[in-house]
Amino acid sequence: MKLLDGKALAKLIKNEVAEEVRSHIALGNRAPHLVAVLVGDHPASASYVRNKIRSCEEVGFRSTIERLDKKTTQEELLLAVEKLNDDPEVDGFIVQLPLPPHIDDMAVTLAIDPRKDVDGFHPVNFGRMAQGLDAYLPATPYGILQMLERYDIETSGKHAVVLGRSNIVGTPISILLSRKSRTGNATVTLTHSRTKNLAEVLRSADILVAAIGSPEYVTADMVKEGAVVIDVGINRVEDDTRKRGYRLVGDVDFNGVKDKVAAITPVPGGVGPMTVISLIQNTFRAAKDEVYEGINTSS
Ligand code: GUN
Repeated sequence: MKLLDGKALAKLIKNEVAEEVRSHIALGNRAPHLVAVLVGDHPASASYVRNKIRSCEEVGFRSTIERLDKKTTQEELLLAVEKLNDDPEVDGFIVQLPLPPHIDDMAVTLAIDPRKDVDGFHPVNFGRMAQGLDAYLPATPYGILQMLERYDIETSGKHAVVLGRSNIVGTPISILLSRKSRTGNATVTLTHSRTKNLAEVLRSADILVAAIGSPEYVTADMVKEGAVVIDVGINRVEDDTRKRGYRLVGDVDFNGVKDKVAAITPVPGGVGPMTVISLIQNTFRAAKDEVYEGINTSS
């Protein structure tokens, strides 16, 4: 079994990006600037945002966390988004999800200028991605593709099964794996809560992407011998033996599955760090206006 070490790979890419950022600044450009908007005090979200901001510092970016109270209204959040859209000192920004239940995620996503949408969640970026145009790819799928590429995992002609159809992971990765590209050309099955004979479908996967947010849902009997398993889940499960009272597990029963597979991502240290570095790469691209140069995105 090969361990797909996202932590080590993300560090390698981070060093490459840091070098490019130094050259970018030496040419007279200002440091790329990412803003993360955090509404409320969701503990996991706060931790993800801290990781993103730490990575910004490590590559020489400027970064800002905009903390808003959990009682912030949708109108107030939309106003904050407008300000970030209009701020020439901000290259890219994200609004960390989930948002409090009184706020409509999609209304907020739609308000983000696609050229600053470094999460790649806006339908303009999503649509461009789906049709094979250059776009800001959503960070988790982008991180998975980079992992497949750098670990030289063949996707062409393989049966890729994606578990979970979220807008931010399952749906986009299913599209990307099927596109005509180095990390595409797979035959893709997108499975979800209504899929019949789910275990059987999962067992037919050469490449299995688990993204349902259910701790250790995928067990050894659902995995084909020699499969490549990409575990997107980051679930907190109670654990009194840990100082913080919980441990992190993926959507895959790692210990049950690891001796059966050709390659697998650990949790933590697999897809998570790849997501963060991909966001950093998107932000650097936004600072250079690589995707939308010469394209008018205002509606
Ligand atoms: N919540 C979970 N993953 C993500 C992500 O990639 N971006 C944002 N904005 N929120 C998230």
